[in-house]
Amino acid sequence: MSPSLLVDNIGELVTNGAGEGPLGIRRNAAVLVEEGRVVWVGPSAYAPAADHHVDAGGAAVLPGFVDSHAHLVFAGDRAAEFAARMAGQPYTGGGIRTTVGATRAATDDELRATVRRLRGEALRQGTTTMEIKSGYGLTVADEARSLRIAAETSTETTFLGAHVVPAEYADRPDDYVGLVCGPMLAAAVPYAKWIDVFCEQGAFDVDHARAILACGQAAGLGVRLHANQLGPGPGVQLGVELGAASVDHCTHLSDADVDALASTRMDSTSGSGTTTVATLLPGAEFSTRSPYPDARRLLDAGVTVALATDCNPGSSYTSSMPFCVALAVREMRMTPAEAVWAATAGGARALRRDDIGVLTPGARADLVVLDAPSHLHLAYRPGVPLIRQVIRNGVPQ
Ligand code: NIG
Ligand code: FE
Repeated sequence: MSPSLLVDNIGELVTNGAGEGPLGIRRNAAVLVEEGRVVWVGPSAYAPAADHHVDAGGAAVLPGFVDSHAHLVFAGDRAAEFAARMAGQPYTGGGIRTTVGATRAATDDELRATVRRLRGEALRQGTTTMEIKSGYGLTVADEARSLRIAAETSTETTFLGAHVVPAEYADRPDDYVGLVCGPMLAAAVPYAKWIDVFCEQGAFDVDHARAILACGQAAGLGVRLHANQLGPGPGVQLGVELGAASVDHCTHLSDADVDALASTRMDSTSGSGTTTVATLLPGAEFSTRSPYPDARRLLDAGVTVALATDCNPGSSYTSSMPFCVALAVREMRMTPAEAVWAATAGGARALRRDDIGVLTPGARADLVVLDAPSHLHLAYRPGVPLIRQVIRNGVPQ
């Protein structure tokens, strides 16, 4: 049995379970951890003894951030493309092929080093779970190795062979869809938990997206997709039709899209097994200087909302969940509590996980101690390194 750990003297504990307000806040609290799990939550004054002890000193503690959307397996960067956008160029997704070229040319160790660097960066900013996609290889061998490398770092791995049609298939996209559904999927399945498609004009149309996601589902992968990022389209409703865990971006939505998402919401007693979450990625709108998604409209309609970074070298080169929380509050009319929930419990729902994103007995012991008395400071003090300590799986990092 590994030593127990007590985190006590917590001024504000965000549990996302029972407690005050939507974040289930408990004050002057303590958390006891054994074998990587939360086993007790209660008043600090009555905390049991433990082998090790972290004194939060009256600070706020929250569940580790769950970043449910990140593209970490790539080579090179696209800083020049970013500079051109800031000088007025639009974002089209065309630069994805630049990163595909660099990624194919990279060694395994170069790709591995980038994944580790970005995963480390995120961990220091409080991210204890991070989904990782392939999608910059786009050959059977390069997608398989991207996922193999991703799986060294995360169990939440996503096959995104349908990111764009690579240049060599530009005039025969049907053949590329056949490759994705056939040998590429077969090579990806041992390392992937999810399948994703970029369903957008210029990437994959709804028929191709449906075919690819259905093949992935038949092979045992869960469905998620990039939808309605650059313009309106059928992606969100396709996601709902297929029972996707999440549709991501959701920047351009019709009333019917919002209604479709809202219709998937389960009541709290029946769990989140069939809810399709709307995952919003404000780093992408920041970095492409585009209008932000209307989070208020989704929340008011009863849609379950998550926040994630979309960390990638093109549209959102940030690994920082606190930055996304601050953007969501300032630019997307989310309250600080809604944004913190979306970055923790919301991300967990988007990955169909009930063991993370909460600090209740039985949950994985993923905790973040802030250098601040309240979760409010994450949005109130943007750009400030407020993550004092991260505990992952019960282990102080
Ligand atoms: O989620 N939209 C598609 N894929 C990424 C961007 C990838 C890139 O530009 O390299 C996204 O924004
Ligand atoms: Fe993305």
